[in-house]
Amino acid sequence: MNTQLRPNSVATQDVTYHMHSQTNPGEHEARGPLIITRGDGVRVYDDEGKEYIDAMAGLWCASLGFNNKRLADAATRQYAELGFYHTFNHRTSAGVAALSQKLVELTGMTGGKAYYATSGSEANETMVKLAWVYHTVHGKPTKRKVIARQRAFHGSTIAAASMCGLEFMHREFGLPIPGFQHTLCPSPYRGMLPGEDADAFVARLASELEALILRESPDTIAAFIAEPINAGGGIIIPPARYFAAVGAVLKKYDILFLDDEIVCGFGRTGRWFGKETVGMAPDMMSMAKGLSSSYFPISAVVIKAEIYEAVKTFNAQGGSFGHGFTNSGHPVGVAIASEAISIYEEMGLEAHVQKMGARLKGHFQDIASRSAIVGEVRGEGLMLGIELVRDPATKEPFAPAMKTGLAFDQIAYRNGLISRCMGDVLGFSPPLIVTESDVDQIAERCEASLKELETSLPKV
Ligand SMILES: Cc1ncc(COP(=O)(O)O)c(C=O)c1O
Repeated sequence: MNTQLRPNSVATQDVTYHMHSQTNPGEHEARGPLIITRGDGVRVYDDEGKEYIDAMAGLWCASLGFNNKRLADAATRQYAELGFYHTFNHRTSAGVAALSQKLVELTGMTGGKAYYATSGSEANETMVKLAWVYHTVHGKPTKRKVIARQRAFHGSTIAAASMCGLEFMHREFGLPIPGFQHTLCPSPYRGMLPGEDADAFVARLASELEALILRESPDTIAAFIAEPINAGGGIIIPPARYFAAVGAVLKKYDILFLDDEIVCGFGRTGRWFGKETVGMAPDMMSMAKGLSSSYFPISAVVIKAEIYEAVKTFNAQGGSFGHGFTNSGHPVGVAIASEAISIYEEMGLEAHVQKMGARLKGHFQDIASRSAIVGEVRGEGLMLGIELVRDPATKEPFAPAMKTGLAFDQIAYRNGLISRCMGDVLGFSPPLIVTESDVDQIAERCEASLKELETSLPKV
């Protein structure tokens, strides 16, 4: 981290001209940027040569690490052959058609279709628009509202941000826009009432959802959106039967089920898609990040046949589907995504992630047993969280003003580990290519950082 902004430096140029995402502007001016100059597998290096294990894979996304040669070669080959083409007005390329078949097959959306966009937010908004078409075609044009969940993250464009259940995504912009509602977050650690077991918790979550639907009126609700495991809200794994119970409520009121697989997709939870890990039966799925290991801004939506049929019916009189992005199905993004999927298949994605995930979680559980401030270790596959608390016995949290999670991140940076706190939940989502020795080093740096943090905390 640059503490001094030298004239004519990258840091000064960045502070002078660049406005950052999800960054405090004043603090950025004071402390300057962290300048990452190169990657090597799961590691990245800053401009002073300092090495970090990026245990967040950037933003839950660089699943194949930071300098994968096969992905670079796939991009180079495609750029040399056809550097751009689009998918409007019947255009396609061989790569787009092949990737579409692969995505429909991998997701088990038999008879369905794949659609492309360039970010997770666009993919999620595409699902909302498709839900509106579906209900209109089925004679229910008043079904427009979308239900998301508290603590959810679904993106930054206006509707996607409205689906977020996080105050920091709303406060500057007066969001959510009307028609976007939020139901309870299925967090067993924070949401279960004293004496409540998992079944009773699930029953309460489902009945709260049903109550919201009835309050709003079922004929106004188009869709429900959820991640299989909530990533950005703090790695929240719902209880076992949660999605079955939610699915039954949605079916009862003819509400479409939108599955945000933007983090969970492509092996992150130890299965190809998070829906398999948690038992979800969606009508549409959005994906991005792991799709190309984020080597290109490509996202996709895979939809059931019924959704596609609705679009076809709507346009039966000759109109065109009124949606699309210039770079939908960009040939370079598609080539990289296809190569990424081939690599996932060759590396035995599910078994590898399950093995490395179990090893890392085991280390974290050992660390928790030696720490006085770990309330819970949770996660599936390589999507793990450590919740820090003042008192593990009572789950009493630290005062938010202490910013304990942020303090951990800063110590971890110094110790060569990139983690990402969500409040006081420490997130770990390393590249899926981690080896046993990488996992062991993540755990070592994590424990050293946690010990430093514990020592620095005021005694009570
Ligand atoms: C679960 C989830 N959905 C959607 C998004 C938005 O993706 P993008 O930033 O590509 O628009 C993110 C981004 O982190 C995400 O974590």
